[in-house]
Amino acid sequence: MEKYLDKTLTIDERTDDLLSRMTIEEKVGQMLQLSYNGLNPLDYARFKKLGIGSFFHALGGEIDDILKKTEKTRLRIPPIFGIDAIHGHALHNGATVFPSQLAMSCSFNRDLIFEMGRATAKEVAADGLDWTFSPVLCIARDLRWGRVNETFGEDSYVVGELGEAIIKGYECDGYIIACAKHYIAYGEATGGRDAYDSPITERKVREVFLEPFRKAVDAGCGSIMTAYGSIDALPLTANKHMLTDILKDELGFEGFVVTDYENVKSLVKKQHVAADIKEASEMTVEAGNDMSMNTHKFYTSVLELVKKGKISEERINDSVRRILRIKFRLGLFDGKERPPKSVISCNEHRALNHEIAQESTVLLKNDGVLPLKQNIKKIAVVGPNADSIRAQYGDWTFFSHPLPSPIAKPKGTYYTVLGGMKKVFGADKIVFEKGCDIFGHGSGIGKAVEAAKNADAVVCVIGDVLHLNGEYRDRANIELTKSQIELVERLAETGKKIIAVLVNGKPLCINLLKEKCAAIIETFNGGDFGGLAAAELIAGEFNPSGKLSISFPQSSSQMPCYYNQFDGWHGGQYVDLKKGNTYTFGDGLSFSEFAYSKLKLSKTTANKNDVIEVSVNVKNKGKMDGKETVMLFVNDVVSSILTPQMELKGFEKVFIRAGETKTVTLQLKISDLAIVKPDCTYEVESGDFEIMVGRNTKENLKAVLKVK
Ligand code: BGC
Repeated sequence: MEKYLDKTLTIDERTDDLLSRMTIEEKVGQMLQLSYNGLNPLDYARFKKLGIGSFFHALGGEIDDILKKTEKTRLRIPPIFGIDAIHGHALHNGATVFPSQLAMSCSFNRDLIFEMGRATAKEVAADGLDWTFSPVLCIARDLRWGRVNETFGEDSYVVGELGEAIIKGYECDGYIIACAKHYIAYGEATGGRDAYDSPITERKVREVFLEPFRKAVDAGCGSIMTAYGSIDALPLTANKHMLTDILKDELGFEGFVVTDYENVKSLVKKQHVAADIKEASEMTVEAGNDMSMNTHKFYTSVLELVKKGKISEERINDSVRRILRIKFRLGLFDGKERPPKSVISCNEHRALNHEIAQESTVLLKNDGVLPLKQNIKKIAVVGPNADSIRAQYGDWTFFSHPLPSPIAKPKGTYYTVLGGMKKVFGADKIVFEKGCDIFGHGSGIGKAVEAAKNADAVVCVIGDVLHLNGEYRDRANIELTKSQIELVERLAETGKKIIAVLVNGKPLCINLLKEKCAAIIETFNGGDFGGLAAAELIAGEFNPSGKLSISFPQSSSQMPCYYNQFDGWHGGQYVDLKKGNTYTFGDGLSFSEFAYSKLKLSKTTANKNDVIEVSVNVKNKGKMDGKETVMLFVNDVVSSILTPQMELKGFEKVFIRAGETKTVTLQLKISDLAIVKPDCTYEVESGDFEIMVGRNTKENLKAVLKVK
């Protein structure tokens, strides 16, 4: 038996053996990834001979089909199959559709997000795949950007913590690898325009965007995807400093780097930094990419470049070694065991999904109308998103990928808000009138107003739709659409208390709701159970614990509005707007009141390599048991460069029974207080740090820590 097939040897021994047997053609074949859609018989004939590194966007039976057509390669190196399982294995109709990353991040619950990753991995692997192109570790600070829904929000610490949790969940059973993307600073592009230039410096990259990737690397993430965009005019695909010096050498990333879709070609066609695919391929490989997603000519180009001595075989070996190591790690050579198909949307995953949906739902306003009294007789459910599962799922499901099928019927069980209200309150109590479409008046606002007049409670479900979200679907204007504004205004004129439920990909300007509605519930894209969770919250069947991971501006032109901006000389206020956001990172109500007291630091003077404990008592003063996310912010009082007035450095979600007081302890590593200096070195500067612990950015207790 060939050594590389011997399971008793180490991954490195097997990899070295296999590499020593491979021709250069076979090696370069490993560096290519092809989209299943668009492959033709000629491709198959070619790849049968040389072997191919990876395919993506094939599902279930399609994978067996590819395997049959490609299995005859000389060394029988199995391809690795990738898919965008972004919020569940949702490109497969019938799999569990979890809330979007943005929705999920509002749960601030690392354990649930870990479990979501684990469940998704099982469903992905049961379908024959080995690799998810998730999580997105981009930071959403410009809300015009179309892909805000795919992120864990606006804060680097939250993105890193939840990213680490989901990666560990994806990879813990060894079924699949994760892919942290898009490396790096992709969301920070000019004007919130997808795949544009991010006009920032390396210092800024390190200060804000690198930390989540550092955590991903430390968590053992198997792969990282290069971003489409550029930083200060240099495309990431061609950025050796970012990919090789920082990611591979400094952070010690041992997995492989895959380009984004056709990113080699885009160096020629979109970014115009290479004259042809050959030049682009050379730049891509030299920069540190290990696998090219779907630029077919990359293969012949790299081969030619190696033969001409323009790319060294050593460089190729490094990439191929990284890819093969992952294939051995996943057991692809050893007849990888897969979970049974019955895990797809199994009861256990559905129960988990339901729990995540509840914890992800954010109660933003409640004048006391919620929970609704049980003796209520008629509830009007109105609004364009009340019964829209497409709006509720958001992007990256079978509705939109791999080939858009917008009229597909979901095979799994799901609850829109209307469905949830019927289940929770009984169908006989619910009157539904859509009222309007997102754009245009549709069935008529008048009918919705009539329904509201005759009801004891009104639930109005508004937001956005799929085509206002997602890749290259940036918006210049994130106000509510005209028809929805009219709907809310007309409903408010009835004098009834309006409970607004938002089903939307990302923050919108919702001043109107704050002013006119008695309650506001934010669900973002809540997946299969988003609508049920909203209805259960309305009925008081659980105590809401979601908090915003992202801020809501008053107006589209108030961006950016993230909480941890630097203070300007004049407070950053516009003369024609009130101060502050409509809602800010950390906001989110409970049916209980949580009272914080006795903030204590285990040391009030610390050394730079200390880890201190910060503890606080939290009392649940309400009548319902509930969960509370305790947030720890710091302010570096005097620093040699600008630092934000508050920056999250810790959070913990705890369950507290009604009437109970819990002491919550958070660890604070003093090294996490480092700033990035202008020369890109890191330093914790001696002096005072204000430590703030509380519910959100506004309500917190303060103490001072001295760092020597
Ligand atoms: C997106 C990636 C995605 C890839 C494959 C690209 O257009 O930017 O996030 O993983 O397509 O579907």
